[in-house]
Amino acid sequence: MSQAVRTLIDRERIASRVAELGRQITLDLERELAGGDSEIVLLCALTGALVFTADLIRHMPLKLAVRTVTVSSYPGTMTTSQGANIRGELPTDLAGKHVLIVDDILDSGRTLGLLRRVIVAQQPASLRVAVLLRKTKRDGREEDVTADYAGFDIADDFVVGYGLDYDGYFRNLPDVAVLTPTPTTAAGAESRG
Ligand code: IMP
Ligand code: MG
Repeated sequence: MSQAVRTLIDRERIASRVAELGRQITLDLERELAGGDSEIVLLCALTGALVFTADLIRHMPLKLAVRTVTVSSYPGTMTTSQGANIRGELPTDLAGKHVLIVDDILDSGRTLGLLRRVIVAQQPASLRVAVLLRKTKRDGREEDVTADYAGFDIADDFVVGYGLDYDGYFRNLPDVAVLTPTPTTAAGAESRG
C-alpha cells in the first residue's frame, strides 16, 4: 500500500465524541419510550459503520436490537459516489418501532436517502439518523438528507479509517485520516460501503 495518510481526527477525540453521542441518543430514545412500549432497532449500514456502531452501542444502556443492512456505492471515479444499492436483505419488521440508522459518513446523501425511503415505507414509530462524519458540500448534496446526530463536520476530502475504506482497506486504522491517492492506485476502487 503506497497511499499516504494524514490523521484528521485521532482516536481519543473519536472516543470521547462517540460517548457523548451515545449519551445524547440514549436520552432521546428514553424520552420516546416513555410514551409507550415500542422497541428500539439500531440499523447499522455495513460495512463502513461497523466500527462506529460497535463503539456507539456500548454507550447506549438501553434495550435495543442491532440489525444490519449492506449498502454499496459504485464510484465512477475513486472518490465519487455514483449511486447506492442495498445488497442482501433489509429488515422488514420495522413497523411501529423506533429506528436509528447508523452510518459512517454523510457524503452525497444517496445511501441515507435510499435507506430513509425504504424504512419510512414500513411506517416506523420514529426514525433517526446518526453518522460519525458529515462532509461539508459547498453545492449541496445529491439527496437532501440531514443527520439527527453527527460526530464531526469535515471538509469534502476523502477519508479513511475507523471503519471507512479505500478499495476495501484502511478500515482497521484507529484514527480518521485523509487519504492522499497516488496515480498508480487510482484505478483500483470498485465498491465501497
Ligand atoms: P453517500 O455519498 O452519502 O451515499 O455515501 C456513500 C458511502 O460512501 C458512505 O456510507 C461511505 O461508506 C462511503 N463514503 C463516502 N465518503 C467517503 C470517504 O470519504 N471515505 C470512505 N468512504 C466514503
Ligand atoms: Mg457506507
